[in-house]
Amino acid sequence: MKSGNNILLAAELLKAGKVVAIPTETVYGLAANAFDAEAVINIFEIKNRPKFNPLIVHIQSWKMLERITQEIHPILKKIAENFWPGPLTILFPKSDAIHPVITAGSTNVAVRMPNHILTKSLLDQLDFPLAAPSANLFGKISPTTAAHVLEQLGDQIEYVLDGGECSIGVESTIIKMNMYEKVEILRLGGITGEEIALITGYLPKIINETEKPEAPGMLASHYAPNKPMLLGNITQLVERYSNKKLAVIAFATTIDHPSIISSYILSEKQDLHEAAHNLFSLMHKAENSGADLIIAELLPEIGIGRAINDRLKRAAF
Ligand code: TXA
Ligand code: MG
Repeated sequence: MKSGNNILLAAELLKAGKVVAIPTETVYGLAANAFDAEAVINIFEIKNRPKFNPLIVHIQSWKMLERITQEIHPILKKIAENFWPGPLTILFPKSDAIHPVITAGSTNVAVRMPNHILTKSLLDQLDFPLAAPSANLFGKISPTTAAHVLEQLGDQIEYVLDGGECSIGVESTIIKMNMYEKVEILRLGGITGEEIALITGYLPKIINETEKPEAPGMLASHYAPNKPMLLGNITQLVERYSNKKLAVIAFATTIDHPSIISSYILSEKQDLHEAAHNLFSLMHKAENSGADLIIAELLPEIGIGRAINDRLKRAAF
């Protein structure tokens, strides 16, 4: 049995320095003891992840936040108090408790308090935080079910703590405070800029991707399905590629065409949260559908729609 809801077993494996997949409200994580550098190195190896790409540290208590950071800016503290536990990751200056392998040499550590009942109970049983990236192979689609994790990593890990479908469905938003004490978004995700603005009083700037991105989740090609994916007007793209077997991922309505072998709707009622919840799951289905090409459309650029569009653009080429 490779997956189940045995929190005690997951805790025992983690205490023994093993890597365990855990559910969160965003996506599944591939977790290890953040105070055990050797256990953490295993995460990079299993995921085939470059060592320059740092990991998020998952905590459960404010006491643990103090232990792993050097200082907590009052504005970041206020933001954390508002959105934790939840889909928000915050960069803080790290303390010596955090090994540089986790932060890829950076003096900042990315921290998040996840909001999933099983993972909260798991963290309650541990006296260490959990370093965890998303539980997919590097550059591939993030997992939102235990089955997705087993499909990509089943041979390499001993246990997946199965917490059902991830409720949010896209990764956490990552923020940091810049040198002018302004909050910036490094990765769009489950908490929107508009929501953060309610605390900061201004809309945080979204930092553009650079050659050497600060959050490599911002690398242009990321979250990619195994099949090529094109974005644009669905009707036009289907006509243009009608000589191929097509899978279509549409927001709320789709079209009929003999070339379409599978068709997926993100949210019939045009609800952006429902669309986020379904996004990676439908991308997994589309890549396994036998289609040669996946065609999708962008969603309205508001709220969590921005994070969805960000993932679609990175998945497309
Ligand atoms: O929702 C999430 O954030 C999920 C769940 C499992 O918590 N985790 C996740 O981890 O998406 P991952 O490793 O797939 O993406 C984490 C992103 C990466 O782009 C990484 O570069 C960035 O966070 N990151 C981590 N630590 C950082 C640091 N110290 N400085 C800058 N970026 C950091
Ligand atoms: Mg990831």
